[in-house]
Amino acid sequence: MLRFEHVSLSYGAQKIIDDISFEIQEGQMAVLIGPSGCGKTTTLKMINRLIEPSAGKIFINGEDITAQDKVELRRHIGYVIQQIGLFPNMTVAQNICVVPNLLKWSKEECDRIVHQLLELVNMPYEQYAHKYPSELSGGQQQRIGILRALAASPPIVLMDEPFSALDPMTRRSLQQEVRSLQQKLNKTFVFVTHDMEEALDLADVIIFMNQGKIVQMAPPEEMLEHPASGQIQDFLGKFIQAASPKGLTAADFMRSGVYTVPASRGINECVSMMQRRNVDTLIVVDDAKRYQGTVSIADIRLTGHVVRTIDPLIRCNTPTVHGGDNAKDCFDLLISSGAPYLVVLDGEERVLGIITKTSMASAMAEQLWG
Ligand SMILES: Nc1ncnc2c1ncn2[C@@H]1O[C@H](COP(=O)(O)OP(=O)(O)OP(=O)(O)O)[C@@H](O)[C@H]1O
Ligand SMILES: [Mg+2]
Repeated sequence: MLRFEHVSLSYGAQKIIDDISFEIQEGQMAVLIGPSGCGKTTTLKMINRLIEPSAGKIFINGEDITAQDKVELRRHIGYVIQQIGLFPNMTVAQNICVVPNLLKWSKEECDRIVHQLLELVNMPYEQYAHKYPSELSGGQQQRIGILRALAASPPIVLMDEPFSALDPMTRRSLQQEVRSLQQKLNKTFVFVTHDMEEALDLADVIIFMNQGKIVQMAPPEEMLEHPASGQIQDFLGKFIQAASPKGLTAADFMRSGVYTVPASRGINECVSMMQRRNVDTLIVVDDAKRYQGTVSIADIRLTGHVVRTIDPLIRCNTPTVHGGDNAKDCFDLLISSGAPYLVVLDGEERVLGIITKTSMASAMAEQLWG
């Protein structure tokens, strides 16, 4: 459907696009991703000839795009840019029909398209068709920008970071709308983003670029399983972990920065410390900061009047694990032991943190939902 063959572009001595070749199939959603300045926008603009390559060829349906009239070409390619660019003095309906009007479609046909498209994004025709862009929210304007790109039913739609200015909620709902529009209409989309979550959600195939080159082109699953470079791994970051929860350890699930006290501390001091911090146990360590056990407020109440320091009240009934232990095993231990928390130790038996049901739950939520 869309094919780049050894395409390069230089501005003076600087090579912006460096010999890229790829092919996108009809009906696919391809997502271009990579660090700022890697050449995503440039690649996109070469598809509708806003920028011409200095070497190589681009084909749409087997036809070299330089053989086609630029204006004619652009009428068959929808284009959504970040700054939506709606015409402020045109209504929603007029904005959507810019290209159909250029193509001299009948008024009835244009009206039908506006009805149909507004319905697709749940913006009722009666309510919105005759509003002006200034009367719409940012997310609604963005929707109209997308509908405008789709209005003349172009086989190819290009989108350059269309959602980067939107709040996360609007962004997610528009992502879903774009995905379902793309599937319903079976268009070929080339979508630029630098947000990996967006790429993973939307893409049939992800094209990762760096410094004008394609580093990896693969479906999301494959990229998650076999990222081709450390940089891609960094971009995938938390999503890689989420895909393989087996690699998680106690240290990923613990709360660090817990208070510890030496065994020589006096009873009264410890009671007031527990009140201040609103905890009912303290973690006790020796002079070398090695874990000794815990002291509970219940034990202090029971026998605290006959001892001076907490030393005689230390109990070793709280389960301990090590930072590198498997997270699932820790989870099982926490549940089966009935203990309020697990103490996490390093190789020298010093306290790294504790795992509570709450720290476990929030770490899991982080893994699942970021
Ligand atoms: N007209 C120009 N003259 C010289 N260099 C340019 C020109 N336009 C873009 N560049 C350079 O080309 C490189 C690629 O730019 P491009 O806009 O394609 O990056 P991008 O991947 O879209 O980045 P971003 O994520 O920041 O939008 C950048 O280094 C940019 O500085
Ligand atoms: Mg860009």
